Amino acid sequence: MTYQNLQIEETDGIVLITINREKALNALNKQTMQELRHFFGADGLEREGIKGVILTGAGEKAFVAGADIKEFMGLGDSGGQALAEYGQEVFFMVERFPHPVIAAVNGFALGGGCELAMACHLRIAGPNARFGQPEVNLGIIPGYGGTQRLIQYIGKTKAMELLLTADMIGADEALQLGLVNKVVEAGAEVEASRKMLQKIATKGPVAISKIIETVNAYFAVDQDGFQTEVSAFGATTRTADFVEGATAFVEKRKADFKGV
Ligand code: CAA
Repeated sequence: MTYQNLQIEETDGIVLITINREKALNALNKQTMQELRHFFGADGLEREGIKGVILTGAGEKAFVAGADIKEFMGLGDSGGQALAEYGQEVFFMVERFPHPVIAAVNGFALGGGCELAMACHLRIAGPNARFGQPEVNLGIIPGYGGTQRLIQYIGKTKAMELLLTADMIGADEALQLGLVNKVVEAGAEVEASRKMLQKIATKGPVAISKIIETVNAYFAVDQDGFQTEVSAFGATTRTADFVEGATAFVEKRKADFKGV
C-alpha cells in the first residue's frame, strides 16, 4: 500500500507516523483509517528491528480533531455501525501492537483523535493539547472505543462528565486525571516520545511485548489477567534475553538484548 495521508519515517528502529491532513486538522477519513490499519496490522508487524512507534499530527494545531465529520454524511442505515466496527478493529491493532506506541499530542485530540491517543500505550502532550469527546454535539456518541477507554484512564465520574458535556480539558488537567503520562514544552512532544522509546529500547524486547499483552489482559473480558501474567512470565524466563539480562546483572555490565 502506498501511504497518502500517513508520513512514515523510521530512524534507528523508531517509527514516526505523522497524520498528514493539516487542513482538516488531521481528521481520520476512510483512507487514513485504512492506512493506519495497514501499518498496525501488516507493515509495522513485518518490519524487522522495530523498537517503537510515535504517532503525531501534522502542524501545530491538532493531533487529530476526530473522525472526518464530512464523510459521515450519507452513512445510511448500517453505515454507522460498520464504521464503528472498523474503527474499533483498527484501534485494537494499535493497542495490541507488540512494540510500544506513544501518542505525541500536539494540539486538539478530539473524538476519534482522543480515542486514537487512548489506544496508544503512552501519551505525551504539549501545553496546547486539548482532549475531549464532543460527539454529543453532533447528536452521536464516540464509536472508536471512547466510552470504554476513557473510563479505564480517568474513572467513571469524570468520564461520564466529559462524555455528557462534550467539555474539553487541557494538558495539565489531562495529566492530573491520568490521561497523559507527561506534559512537555510546545514542539517537544515528538522528541520527548523518542527519548522515552529509546529508554524502553534498552530493555528486553520480549519482556516489553509481554508487558503490553499482560496489561491489556486486565481489561479483556475474556481473559484472566493474572493467568496471562503467569504464562507471559514463563515465556520471558525461557528467552535467551533473560539469561543475558541476569548474567549482565551479575557481571555488573549493561545487557545486550537480542529480542529472543
Ligand atoms: N472532520 C472533518 N473536518 C474537520 C474536523 C473533523 N472532525 N475538524 C476540523 N475539521 C476541518 C474544518 O471543517 C475546517 O475545514 P474548512 O477550513 O474546510 O472549513 C478545518 O478543519 C479547520 O477547522 P475549524 O475552522 O473548525 O478550526 P477552529 O480552530 O475554528 O476549531 C475545532 C477547531 C474546535 C477542533 C473544530 O474544528 C471542531 O470542533 N472540530 C470537530 C471536532 C469533533 O467534533 N470531533 C469529533 C468527530 S466525530 C468522531 O470522532 C466520532 C467517533 O468517535 C468515531
